[in-house]
Amino acid sequence: MRLKVAVLAGDGIGPEVTREATNILHAVAELGGHEFTFVEGLIGGVAITDSGSPLPTATLDAALDADAVLLGAVGDNKFNSLTPDKRPEAGLLQIRQALGGFANLRPSVAYTALAGSSPLRPEVTEGVDILFVRELLGGLYFGAPRRWNKETNEAINTMRYTRDEVVRVARVAFELASKRRKKVTSVDKANVLEVSQLWRATVTEIAKDYPEVTLEHQLVDSMAMHIMNIPRNFDVVLTENLFGDILSDEAGVITGSLGMLPSATIGGAVNLYEPVHGSAPDIAGTGKANPLGAILTAAMVLRHSANLEQDARAVEQAVLKVLEAGYRTADIARKGENVQLVNTQEMGKHVHQALAESID
Ligand code: NAD
Ligand code: IPM
Ligand code: MN
Repeated sequence: MRLKVAVLAGDGIGPEVTREATNILHAVAELGGHEFTFVEGLIGGVAITDSGSPLPTATLDAALDADAVLLGAVGDNKFNSLTPDKRPEAGLLQIRQALGGFANLRPSVAYTALAGSSPLRPEVTEGVDILFVRELLGGLYFGAPRRWNKETNEAINTMRYTRDEVVRVARVAFELASKRRKKVTSVDKANVLEVSQLWRATVTEIAKDYPEVTLEHQLVDSMAMHIMNIPRNFDVVLTENLFGDILSDEAGVITGSLGMLPSATIGGAVNLYEPVHGSAPDIAGTGKANPLGAILTAAMVLRHSANLEQDARAVEQAVLKVLEAGYRTADIARKGENVQLVNTQEMGKHVHQALAESID
């Protein structure tokens, strides 16, 4: 199996966690006799510093030429005074749009070994396995008009969706649900927003093609509460762009840390893989970053871009084994628990070791 991966590590903890993820991909290639090649590119704040652009042409070309793009994180406080179109985050939005993936899959799983790492009671999180399908190319992020008029002190962003944009992401959600527990929860604000009314009507229509899948609708405000109260009730959760951004971070609480969550964006010319978390400037450079979200993201690369389901599972099992053995980065270490605190690199090494043992 040959796979060309564009690695865009980005800012803050991006390079720290991405290094551990690519190490795991190297290991999978070596153990399985695959040929994975890696091309590095600059994105975000490091790219602005280097060339003035958050997404240089060379990076975009490398990404479009690859079989998969693995991205760390972008964002640096030193650019906070810039307008949105000039910030590191603009590079991320531009590459998402250029690659064309519209369905961002964000699994949130409660691992038994981490039951004590969540502030939620174990009886609430036990068995939770939610897959968010977040629409990634529409809504407030990309809608026009958008501006901040300093003269009139007025700012505007536009939440816009077309029926076709809803249809294509809804189909992804129903297809995935039909292979899981056969339930889709569609999240909207249809009691207030026309966009959400279009969303709800369209999802309801698409559901008719999937009679084996149950569809329920939830308003986003009460959904934010249900995710904490009764997370086990959810299987596939389908959302527009901003609602999915917010709810998927919230779902990190179920797993125990935002640093545990992976994601894959499918449906475009090249799939884009990124952990859900950001550049975490508060811990960058300290060795505290949890690389497991990035490593589980690498597993999603194997699953969705290399068709190596067995290897994807082997990586996920290796992560589980390391958690069960009691290794913890600071974000998932609970005070009083008998666990071994490790740094980013050590955590990566333990996963590598567990993987090698399982494949041997
Ligand atoms: P963040 O996700 O970077 O961090 C939120 C909190 O979670 C912080 O306390 C951080 O230390 C912790 N955290 C995050 N990832 C962790 C990990 N792997 N291990 C341990 N702890 C972890 O969100 P933020 O602080 O709101 O944003 C910081 C910057 O990141 C901003 O510039 C934002 O725009 C950017 N951002 C980028 C992405 C991306 O590139 N995909 C995603 C989210 C935020
Ligand atoms: C995410 C991030 C991004 C988003 C930002 C950095 C543009 O928060 O991937 O969740 O809002 O999509
Ligand atoms: Mn986010």
